[in-house]
Amino acid sequence: MSDQAKTPAASSAAKKLFIKTYGCQMNVYDSQRMAEAMGAEGYVLTENQAEADMVLLNTCHIREKAAEKLYSDLGRLKPLKAERPDLKIGVAGCVAQAEGEEITRRMPLVDLVVGPQAYHRLPAMVRGEAPRIVTDFPEEDKFDHLPARTSLNRATRRAPAAFLTVQEGCDKFCAFCVVPYTRGAEVSRPVERILAEARDLVARGVREITLLGQNVNGWHGAGADGREWGFGRLIRAIAEIDGLDRIRYTTSHPNDMAGDLIEAHRDVPQLMPYLHLPVQSGSDRILKAMNRKHTAAEYLRLIDRIRDARPDIMLTSDFIVGFPGESDADHQATLDLVAQVNFGTAFSFKYSPRPGTPAYDRPEVDGDLADARLQELQALLTRQQKAAQEAMVGRTLGVLFEKPGREAGQMVGKSDYLHSVFVEAPQAQIGDLVQVRILESAPNSLRGELAA
Ligand code: SAH
Ligand code: SF4
Ligand code: F3S
Repeated sequence: MSDQAKTPAASSAAKKLFIKTYGCQMNVYDSQRMAEAMGAEGYVLTENQAEADMVLLNTCHIREKAAEKLYSDLGRLKPLKAERPDLKIGVAGCVAQAEGEEITRRMPLVDLVVGPQAYHRLPAMVRGEAPRIVTDFPEEDKFDHLPARTSLNRATRRAPAAFLTVQEGCDKFCAFCVVPYTRGAEVSRPVERILAEARDLVARGVREITLLGQNVNGWHGAGADGREWGFGRLIRAIAEIDGLDRIRYTTSHPNDMAGDLIEAHRDVPQLMPYLHLPVQSGSDRILKAMNRKHTAAEYLRLIDRIRDARPDIMLTSDFIVGFPGESDADHQATLDLVAQVNFGTAFSFKYSPRPGTPAYDRPEVDGDLADARLQELQALLTRQQKAAQEAMVGRTLGVLFEKPGREAGQMVGKSDYLHSVFVEAPQAQIGDLVQVRILESAPNSLRGELAA
């Protein structure tokens, strides 16, 4: 099929697809790929749920609140479905995988339930040529069966920064986490597929690629040279693509931070000086109960090695407070670790017991105590984030413009360190990568001027 035939013209006859994405970047990527698959079926994306012929909710199961959001959003769709019974409602993502037909039982208005490993079957499901509920884990790479990214539709084409999933699933089984159950075992996509997709994105004007995986640095595969490649080698190969200026990746596990990856941070200029490396807790007792398989000291040693390789790297992390059994001393150990590392920013969450995970039945920490600990940790992390931003003032950094700013003549883009930077730049275009002198730090962004 030609590119032309695959891309539905903006005819009024085209059916409209509304997608809402919850959860992590892998879901953002998957939503784009599903939009492309549905594009080949004659659907165009809409931002307006009320005019949609199909509503697809791409869900997250990581914490209870995330999963419950699906049911409240489905509840709100009832009047729309009552008005237009031919409206198709689909549930994708990690809640789809975890709850399957429980979703259609609880919410009969749902037409389709599709798990994250079955997205290639979505078009057939919509046509009524496949079961309404598909949550199996197929052998093959689902991405091979989705349309090539040449059918990128309007909504995804323009962005100068793109996601590219290279690895899926998780074999680590942290005691609190649903991901190994919702996304399945670790699978690495083959080198050639990844390079082809990256080249294709760059040919379309993408200048920054973020490599994605639930355990992205666990990626491995057979390289073009017949050898087994690790993730650091993959980054070096991607860095050779002409026109690709920036590479990022997320999310990494400390135990998969191999030497070749750390060296890539030293050697590969396109690899941005930013690393999200979740640690979850600073207490060895809790790390053990979480099945994280490393100690706080091992994490700190790893950080030292990474900073030796790339002294200006900005580190970020994830924390869970109130994990079952967490004492005041354990919490203090987390605060101590944070003080020692000095993070650029971090996400912290109150522990949420998830059905089916090993920690689910363990006695919980008192809710108010967990809230107080969360506040204390967040206050410390916010101070560190503010200091990290203020340290940017006076520096000249690369900024990749992603969209116009709030004021006329203003552009906003991401710095090397992933801060949003507002710049007066009336002549600039989206996709320009420019040098910017940082003038000022605001609560969640920076302001700068074009460097001469
Ligand atoms: N693969 C990534 C994380 C995926 S989930 C990794 O290993 O780091 C993103 C974050 O959500 C986790 O790092 C953890 O901090 C948080 N999280 C996961 N399960 C949780 C739970 N049951 N309760 C609270 N936070 C949770
Ligand atoms: Fe979840 Fe742990 Fe796997 Fe991360 S490494 S996805 S937290 S089980
Ligand atoms: Fe959520 Fe699934 Fe991502 S549970 S965080 S959407 S892998």
